[in-house]
Amino acid sequence: MLSYLVESGKTTRMNDMLKLPAGTIVSTERVSPMLCRLSLAVLALAAAPAAAQNAPSGAVLYAPCKACHTIDKGGRNGLGPNLNGVVGRKAGSLPGFNYSAAMKGFGKTWTPALLDAYLADPRKTVPSNKMIYPGLKDPQKRAALIAWLKAQ
Ligand code: HEC
Repeated sequence: MLSYLVESGKTTRMNDMLKLPAGTIVSTERVSPMLCRLSLAVLALAAAPAAAQNAPSGAVLYAPCKACHTIDKGGRNGLGPNLNGVVGRKAGSLPGFNYSAAMKGFGKTWTPALLDAYLADPRKTVPSNKMIYPGLKDPQKRAALIAWLKAQ
């Protein structure tokens, strides 16, 4: 459990709460009774990703997209355009983002079905578009991600 916490950065967050230097591993032995409730909370945090492995949540699947996209309303464009409300939006239409000619000229609206095809294989669906993403091959994961995108 502790190694997972270290990997996922949750140790750091817990250390912030405890005002310990980043990287300090807090073992249950060292947690005083006063902090019992906190250690229970940490156990709950550790259990959550286990559930996510069975049916990955959209938020988890979205993590790699964050390298290039924001999703909050009115969020800044990064390497890719802001994705708030992208389901139902015309492709290549967000003002202020410098799309490729391919995406600007694509001319379709992002429905869940079209997003499914795009996220499976961006280059095949919109040839010459400039999103550098190899594609998410698992249809169930794509469905979960698209449902999550739609809810943002
Ligand atoms: C390496 C950067 C990068 C990553 C990672 C990335 N994208 Fe993109 N994305 C882009 C760029 C750049 C564009 C604009 C493409 C163009 O103009 O040709 C784009 C465009 C899009 C569009 C079309 C938006 C519009 O306004 O028409 C969608 C939808 C999208 N990305 C979703 C995703 C999702 C979901 C993920 C994660 C699974 C993801 N992207 C990962 C860079 C990225």
